[in-house]
Amino acid sequence: MKWVFGNWELICTVVFLGCLFYKYLMVRRWGLGDKKEESGDCRRRRLQPPRGTSGWPVIGETIEFIASGYTSRPVSFMEKRKSIYGKVFKTHILGRPIIVSTDPDVNKVVLQNQGNVFIPCYPKSVIELLGESSILQMNGGLQKRLHAIVGGFLRSPQFKARITKDIQKSVKLALSTWMDRDNPQQPLYLQDETKKITFEILVRLLMSVEPGEDMEFLKREFMEVIKGLICLPVKLPGFRMYKSLQAKERMLKMVRKIVDDRKMTMENNEAKSSGLPNDVIDVLLRDTGESDGTQQRLPLDFISGNIIEMMIPGEDSVPMIMTLAIKYLCDNPTALACLVHENNKLKKRKDESSEEYAWTDYVSLEFTQGVISETLRMANIINAIWRKALEDVEIDGYLIPKGWCVLASLTSVHMDEENYENPDEFDPWRWERKTGASVKSNKFTPFGGGQRLCPGLEFSRLEISIFLHHLVTTYTWVAEEDQIVYFPTVKTRRKLPIIVTPR
Ligand code: HEM
Repeated sequence: MKWVFGNWELICTVVFLGCLFYKYLMVRRWGLGDKKEESGDCRRRRLQPPRGTSGWPVIGETIEFIASGYTSRPVSFMEKRKSIYGKVFKTHILGRPIIVSTDPDVNKVVLQNQGNVFIPCYPKSVIELLGESSILQMNGGLQKRLHAIVGGFLRSPQFKARITKDIQKSVKLALSTWMDRDNPQQPLYLQDETKKITFEILVRLLMSVEPGEDMEFLKREFMEVIKGLICLPVKLPGFRMYKSLQAKERMLKMVRKIVDDRKMTMENNEAKSSGLPNDVIDVLLRDTGESDGTQQRLPLDFISGNIIEMMIPGEDSVPMIMTLAIKYLCDNPTALACLVHENNKLKKRKDESSEEYAWTDYVSLEFTQGVISETLRMANIINAIWRKALEDVEIDGYLIPKGWCVLASLTSVHMDEENYENPDEFDPWRWERKTGASVKSNKFTPFGGGQRLCPGLEFSRLEISIFLHHLVTTYTWVAEEDQIVYFPTVKTRRKLPIIVTPR
């Protein structure tokens, strides 16, 4: 005892240093800028997971979560808990305890992922289907390298100039066939039509396969692959997962042959491997590993696998935004009239000058860009991003314990009236108001953010703009009654039937 009292100062110092050690070494702390002195309440909450409930044994709150997806306000699940527990809360859904963030600042920290403390956290079926070396699952240097190569290519002005012509050609061709049908007065299903257009563009962008037998093969097999994304992860004959993996194998064989042939051509003809790469296979084959200092080329199997896996985020997202934009415009004739006016003006200018369209023509259509942003805000196919903490992480006073999953809810932020006035209203004009929404804000993240910000962002916006332009300047239409559904992913219930008439 005497020693204790005699060494009181020493003990205090040791305890203090111990606390510091725990706080800074055991718990990684990612703050959101300098905080004011915290209240005692906050301090108690510190180092504890956020508040919330785990619901029923085993199923947790899954039923309520899924049920909200079948309503017209899928964010109601998040909103209810947010009002009770705050913007970050704990729940138990889809078989696991999970921390949900509806806070744009917390989401930003999760997406930025400084210190690489978060990794993607997908359902088991997705993990099985993607494989370990998919860009969507990989972490660290290789993910960064792949992301930089693909993103750099898709963002380059030379690529955009070329792909603009390509997209225009595909869109115009597809639109022209609408009148060539036996009965043009029959409704067209816009959701299917946009999928046909965008799938072919995506495959050409990734591996330069032209419409024909190979394209049909890829379409068929890819549809089989994605059926397995959400299923029982059982790899036995007869099970869905088994069929999807088999389809992926068949696709891999074909893509590997394309990659091999391309490699051979590149080796035989050095001149061909300079200049603008044709597609993503080209950029991946050409990369020498100089940028990350490995000086190693990417293995051919790795390239083939990733070409297929990159189709997954690209395949459904773009056609769905095209379809939903039209759905919102059908329900909002004033916005449709503004969009038509803006696009007719551009068409008239182009017709009169006989100039070709440049990619900059499309992306500078201010109102059209507002329509795209507003559609992405209200009904993005990727409504949340799932991550798993590799160690205890503290963000803004909340503890994310090691091993827990965090769901950064993008839609909750997009539909929060703190962030957007009248969030349920389709209001493309909000993007034009100087004080309104901004595509650069962390309150608007349909393409994610940080290290994994979608590399297809600019390409997608360009493709959607080109489609909208040619659709509204070629046709008028009458849409049949339809509804947006949000579960398991956002889509229109009847695939948006429309009857078109040439302008
Ligand atoms: C409207 C269209 C699109 C939306 C809303 C969208 C959204 C997203 C989001 C939110 C992420 C981040 C995922 C995460 O952090 O885990 C992402 C990643 C990704 N997207 Fe997109 N995407 C779209 C179109 C495309 C297209 C057309 C492509 C292909 C050309 C593409 C390729 C990718 C890839 C490869 C990743 C993974 C990046 C990485 O993990 O490093 N996306 N996308």
